[in-house]
Amino acid sequence: MTAMRLHDLEPSTEEFRRAVVRGLSATPRTLPCKFFYDEAGSRLFDRICELPEYYPTRTELRILDERAGAIADLLGPRTRLVEFGSGAGVKIRLLLAALDRPAVYVPVDICRAHLVAAADALAGDFPDLRVAPVCADYTEPFALPATPGIAIGTTAGFFPGSTIGNFMPDEATAFLRRARRLLGPGSAMVIGVDVPKDAAVLEAAYDDAAGVTAEFNRNLLRRMVRELGAEVDIDGFRHEARWNRALSRIEMHLVSRRAQTIRIGEQVFAMAAGETIHTENSCKYGVDQFRSMAGRAGYLPVTAWTDADGLFSVHVLRAP
Ligand code: AVJ
Repeated sequence: MTAMRLHDLEPSTEEFRRAVVRGLSATPRTLPCKFFYDEAGSRLFDRICELPEYYPTRTELRILDERAGAIADLLGPRTRLVEFGSGAGVKIRLLLAALDRPAVYVPVDICRAHLVAAADALAGDFPDLRVAPVCADYTEPFALPATPGIAIGTTAGFFPGSTIGNFMPDEATAFLRRARRLLGPGSAMVIGVDVPKDAAVLEAAYDDAAGVTAEFNRNLLRRMVRELGAEVDIDGFRHEARWNRALSRIEMHLVSRRAQTIRIGEQVFAMAAGETIHTENSCKYGVDQFRSMAGRAGYLPVTAWTDADGLFSVHVLRAP
């Protein structure tokens, strides 16, 4: 256990309750995907990353492994890395190992338990690195922790996993603009972006044979039971992943198998048979399409790499 100061802005149960009530009251019904990631959900997500159907993780790891040296050359010595949605901290290790004396690592994650465990393990493995974790919902503003006395070269954002795809395109542009301002002039952004492909490949990646993604999706309902005391028949909902070609996104839904109600305290939500709760969008961008978006956010595109099969891309952007 290392002595490490945690900046804690973890969303409260009250925020979760408000978001659930708002989403279930909407037409069509929705739930924000950021609430997937409690402890149980973060663990389920780590299992998704190992699934044979879920190509993004291993493809991005391969690109990062191949290009870590090039990224290190672009960033230079004593980099300060800020990772949005740091999770288990597997990918960052590849970058840290390649960088020239990295100075500071700021993992930002919405799940405090997952964040602290991953940050502790990482600090143990990189004793010369200052690890300054921030538990926060990075869709909301937060400040970078001060690290007095540490000489810093380039500040670089790291946003892997195509998590940018969970925003709608206009939100994604706004996020990039805010990240650029947070990281400052001259900063870089290394960002993983999934690209459009065959519907069958996409739908299998989001509806695996072992049913892990289905459990990940239904964990939102379980979390409602655990934290809000919601009354809901979890088996009354089935997982569905749909490729929406027109909007270039995978949608995840919880489909009500029959007419039923969800109760949260005084609130009652009556669901019709076949009605869905839309729980996630995962937007996919072609390389040029993403470059244009980054440009609209005020970034200069530096490089983009894809794997040999063109399944996934990693972009490097620079803030002027
Ligand atoms: C890491 C959030 C981008 O959208 O591909 C995986 C989340 N959802 N399987 C994705 C997810 C279902 C993942 N992100």
